[in-house]
Amino acid sequence: MTNRIAIAPSILAADFAYLADSIAVIADDIDMLHVDVMDGHFVPNISLGPPVIRSLAAATDLYLDCHLMITDPLRYLGALKEAGAHGVTVHIEAVPDPGPVANEATDLGLDFGLVVNPTTPVDAIDPYLELCSMVVVMSVEPGFGGQHFIEAVLPKIERLRESVDSRALPADIQVDGGINLLTAGQARSAGANVFVAGSSVFGADDPLNTVQELRSIVGAES
Ligand code: DX5
Ligand code: ZN
Repeated sequence: MTNRIAIAPSILAADFAYLADSIAVIADDIDMLHVDVMDGHFVPNISLGPPVIRSLAAATDLYLDCHLMITDPLRYLGALKEAGAHGVTVHIEAVPDPGPVANEATDLGLDFGLVVNPTTPVDAIDPYLELCSMVVVMSVEPGFGGQHFIEAVLPKIERLRESVDSRALPADIQVDGGINLLTAGQARSAGANVFVAGSSVFGADDPLNTVQELRSIVGAES
């Protein structure tokens, strides 16, 4: 199993007018920022793109994990890299043949990963695990924060953990959607090691305390 255990708050749930302030409160206790890029086409919502990523990169040294919920990721990799993204994850539903996107990301110096929606079987990404530094299991339908965790994805996380470990691959297994103080432990037990948390962190009265509690629940170093 991959050694590191990481907390990746999703800024989608933060107040976009005060992003730097919201991040500064938790920055020392998180491992990366999860940045949800939506195009209003692959998902029925529009969030942010390279200009906001550029501002984030200027405001923090945190790793920017960019989740691309967009129809044509290949077209934007250069702009995302130039803006300051560190890693990109793309949906297998958007890019059924991910080889060219993975190659371009690698050429640009971006970490690459693949995402599966709740109803997409992990078999869809199994042939491409070698290309990935991260694989992501969506535990809500992509497009919106604040939804309930779909427990039915837990066996998919277990299967991915078996595949990754049995092939001795370095890929992190990220879970994205509905992660909170009640669901994080389930996802950890299933084999996830990177935990996206949006509304449970940025919607909390005390985001720092929530991050620290999440760390403790999933066994992340503090
Ligand atoms: C959903 C996004 C998630 C979302 C998570 O499309 O990919 O990253 O921000 O938010 P919560 O933790 O509120 O479910
Ligand atoms: Zn996301």
